[in-house]
Order: sequence, then structure tokens, then C-alpha cells
Amino acid sequence: MTDPRNPQLQGFLDAALGALERHAICDRARASLRRIAAASHRVEPHGRAPAARLPVCAHLDPLLASLADHPAVGPLAHAFRDVAPLLVWRTRADPDGTASRNFPTSHANAMFIGPGGIEPRSDIWIGVSLLAPHVRYPDHTHAPEETYLVLSDGEFRQGDGDWFSPGVGGSFYNPPGIWHTMRSGDTPLLALWALWNDGAGAA
Ligand SMILES: [Fe+2]
Repeated sequence: MTDPRNPQLQGFLDAALGALERHAICDRARASLRRIAAASHRVEPHGRAPAARLPVCAHLDPLLASLADHPAVGPLAHAFRDVAPLLVWRTRADPDGTASRNFPTSHANAMFIGPGGIEPRSDIWIGVSLLAPHVRYPDHTHAPEETYLVLSDGEFRQGDGDWFSPGVGGSFYNPPGIWHTMRSGDTPLLALWALWNDGAGAA
């Protein structure tokens, strides 16, 4: 029998899935999030990777503190702060050279639940990207569909479309296989993402 989920992780998942569902902008995102929420009731064993931070994570605490009283995402920010000590922050590659030159030392990703996460599993991935100011993330694509919840200023792009700024609490949906990216301006960028991997393949 699997142990109950770590309470800080469960509290974060409850807050994150609630906020994602409230802010979703289309039926496909809402359907994806319903599948993710249903699957999340099954608890997988806690991962064994030790928590790890990177220098760019110095931006995290001030960002979360700035959201503490936000009417839409304040409770989520509190839950994020509580679970943050368990996160394993990592960098990702820029295989096509589309990222800014400062990208390798100026970003970090972490997975709450999903591959390499606090709760490693393959069916649902809920994670976060953190960018220092003036960083462009690589163009990337993956088979699982994805819903974003943005927690800061910053710009996003899908395919060859225009850059757009969802703002704090803004959300958008990436269909399977769409190219997408993000970039920060004068302030750090923080964004949650939730992917439903139905087994079609993972990036
Ligand atoms: Fe993505």
C-alpha cells in the first residue's frame, strides 16, 4: 500500500489544480485538467532525489511574497512556498540555439509531480519555470498537451504567433505538438504548467 502523499505536496496540488481550473480559458484545457485531477488521486511513492536549488532561485521567494495577498493566486503562492523546500531545480538544454545567451545560468525548472519530481510519475506532469530578467527560453515542443498558469509578468508565444502577456493569473493551452516559448522582461518570470501524458509520447 502506498503511503499518503506528503502534506505540503498535497496542499500545493490542491491549490494549483484549483487555480488552473478556475483560470483555464478553453474547453480543451478544462478537459485536460479534469483528467489530471482525476489521475492525481492515485498517489505514487515519494521520489528519492535530494532537493536542490540553483542561484536563479533567489528570485523565487520575493516573487511568491509579492503574490501573497493577490486575490486570485495568493493561496497558491502560500502553498508553493510551503512545498518549495522539497523541489529539485534543474536546467534544461537549448538544442536549437533559440534561447538567449544568458539562458544556461538564468533559468531553472522544477517538477512537483512528474518525471524527476517530488512524486516521480509519467502520466501527469505539474511543474514550474523560473526565468531571471531578460531571458528567452528555447522554442520547444512535446506530445503531451499542456495548460499554463502564469504567476508573473512575462511574454509567451505559440507557433509563429505574436508574443502575448497573460499577466498574473493568466492561462493558455498548448495543443499536443505545438511549438512554444517564453521570455522575461525587466522582472523575473514564473509560470506553472500542467501536462497530461496519455502515453502518446513525452518530450
Ligand atoms: Fe511546454
